[in-house]
Amino acid sequence: MGRMGIYLDHAATTPVDPEVIEAMLPYLAEVPYNASAIHTGGRMASEAVEEARSRVARFIGADPDEVYFTSGGTESDNWALKSVRHVPVEQKPHLLVSAIEHAAVLESADTLARAGWMVERVPVTPEGRVEPDQVALRITSQTALVSVMLANNEVGTIQPIADIAAECRKRSVLVHTDAVQAGLYVRLDVDELGVDLLTLSAHKLYGPKGIGALYIRRGTAIRRWMDGGSHERGMRSGTINVPAAVGFGVACDLAVKRRDEDGPRVAERRDRLVEGIMDRVPECRLTGWGSDLLPGHAHFCFRGVEGESVLIGLDAAGVYASGGAACSSRSVSTSHVLRAMGMADEWARGAVRMTLGRSTTPDQIEYTIDAVASALADLRF
Ligand SMILES: Cc1ncc(COP(=O)(O)O)c(C=O)c1O
Repeated sequence: MGRMGIYLDHAATTPVDPEVIEAMLPYLAEVPYNASAIHTGGRMASEAVEEARSRVARFIGADPDEVYFTSGGTESDNWALKSVRHVPVEQKPHLLVSAIEHAAVLESADTLARAGWMVERVPVTPEGRVEPDQVALRITSQTALVSVMLANNEVGTIQPIADIAAECRKRSVLVHTDAVQAGLYVRLDVDELGVDLLTLSAHKLYGPKGIGALYIRRGTAIRRWMDGGSHERGMRSGTINVPAAVGFGVACDLAVKRRDEDGPRVAERRDRLVEGIMDRVPECRLTGWGSDLLPGHAHFCFRGVEGESVLIGLDAAGVYASGGAACSSRSVSTSHVLRAMGMADEWARGAVRMTLGRSTTPDQIEYTIDAVASALADLRF
């Protein structure tokens, strides 16, 4: 990223791909119409949106009419959790979420708990894995929904969703998965995964911010999310952001086209980063190792230092990293993900996440290893 620094925060957001920008531009300039309008301009915009919907659907093995555009992952997660039809609240509907979900899921679950739902968090192994039998043994006759993410945003662990969903289906329980982090590197097929609801966000796929989708399997009992002018087949009203939808569709196509090549290359660079840091920095733990991991994720806990101090040192050296979830980066408490994994506070406080992307170079990795080693040496002098 040149003078912008070495960008190792791709899990927070990815730069928009030039091909995505190119595809979006006409819909910002020459075709600025409302996709709901009946005039020719409106129809041009609407055709572009439907083309984008088909691309997103193809990306996850769904039919286009099962894909609903939203403003992003947060909205899709909120919709999935808060709108599933269930037994009346007086009969205490039950919700299962994993302990390492994104805040969009956990906070939605908290809201349901305040409204009278029974909410349970499924624990994870020390490696950050949600075991299918831990889900299965908690399902009751009142369980309305199980929500487990496909890949974790902080440590990058990939969850066995197909096995979890199989347990749920045996008991006729709906399954939602947040696939926001997984989309770039994990092949997504809603039938193979066996899920009823799936969350996507474009800005983690080299697409634009502010657009995502919720996949809703045909026939799923879920209520409309946004009242208004009946956009998105009456389920989610609001004038569609045409350029963003177009960009999202192209980003999905590019993700599939590049996945096989990008995954191994990014993993190789990540492995070198891990090796370099583990060699040079004492009292450093790799988090999530031993589980299936996303290729771009490297998450470390440095004992006895504040992760934020490491990040400031790295920033001064021009390396952009993160403490974990971007949204909790300003909070002083340790990460709920690390706590769920049983990480002691003295380690969890020193959490640093580096997430590589398709443009991360070997030189950047070597520079970063030096920068981390010297930031830690300064802090521990
Ligand atoms: C796993 C996960 N879910 C949901 C979100 C929220 O997505 P968005 O930023 O599109 O609202 C994120 C982004 O940080 C994420 O990593």
